[in-house]
Amino acid sequence: MASPEPELDGRTVLVTGGGSGIGKGITAALLARGANVVVLEIEPDNIKSASAELDGGDRLAWFEGSVSVAAEVDAAFTLAAERFGSVHHLVNNAGTASLSLVEDMAEEDWDLIVDTCLKGTFLCTRAFVRQVTEDGEARSIVNISSLNAIAATDGLGHYCAAKAGVMQFTQTCAGELGRRGIRVNAIGPGTVNTPLGAGFTVGQIGQEFLDRTLVSPPRHQEPSDIADVALFLMSPAAQRITGHFIPVDGGQHVRGLHSYWDVAEAQGLVARP
Ligand SMILES: NC(=O)c1ccc[n+]([C@@H]2O[C@H](COP(=O)([O-])OP(=O)(O)OC[C@H]3O[C@@H](n4cnc5c(N)ncnc54)[C@H](O)[C@@H]3O)[C@@H](O)[C@H]2O)c1
Repeated sequence: MASPEPELDGRTVLVTGGGSGIGKGITAALLARGANVVVLEIEPDNIKSASAELDGGDRLAWFEGSVSVAAEVDAAFTLAAERFGSVHHLVNNAGTASLSLVEDMAEEDWDLIVDTCLKGTFLCTRAFVRQVTEDGEARSIVNISSLNAIAATDGLGHYCAAKAGVMQFTQTCAGELGRRGIRVNAIGPGTVNTPLGAGFTVGQIGQEFLDRTLVSPPRHQEPSDIADVALFLMSPAAQRITGHFIPVDGGQHVRGLHSYWDVAEAQGLVARP
């Protein structure tokens, strides 16, 4: 039987947005299992604080840049090749969100969220595939999507569209890349305790999610909950798993998600025009 423990000693993983939250949790878990990790991260402050926190030694390398700029993505893969050789696994995690009704949404907000979540996933996937050689090594891509890929909410039109796009892109890539030894899966986190998740884990909005959580005790997810599943998807135990979207949410999706906008409006935090 294949081991559920990923065989990561000497393997190289590129993680996007690894300076905070879920990406930092995945990076920590990878380092703890012996992987080399290259983090592509846009925020210098997050690089500074995370590199002080993560004990990676010379197995951890940072590249400051954006997932939505092709030249910067390609440069991050060049750094990975120079430091560690070929990249075995890619974690497309970088993302951002903001709350706005479509009617009021600035074009810049749409572009930022779609470029970060969806275009970034495409650019990193393309760079990953281009550096693959026919060496017979098992490879995989883990895309961090969201429950919003399958459950829309008012106020997150850009984010819901981008995350649903990531889900479909996962299936397309699973089809194109499976015969080349690359599995591609997506995780749909529910509410996760991170800086980005802070808007959805506190107050009435957070409580609504806890009310929909099936697993006992009801709680929001931690980055380590997402990291556990990401590492499983990289492991030999997942060698027959590709093209999947896996909610990691304590079952929140089963009860259907509430509209964050309506709750925020009831709290007086936002208002419809
Ligand atoms: N926190 C949640 O509740 C939750 C729920 C579902 C899905 N997600 C998804 O999980 C992923 C991680 O979110 P998080 O909660 O850890 O957020 P976070 O804000 O804590 O971390 C995101 C990291 O990505 C980096 N980043 C942003 N734009 C980037 C870019 N263009 N290039 C490179 N790095 C960039 C940020 O600087 C930050 O370090 C995102 O894709 C998010 O949409 C989060």
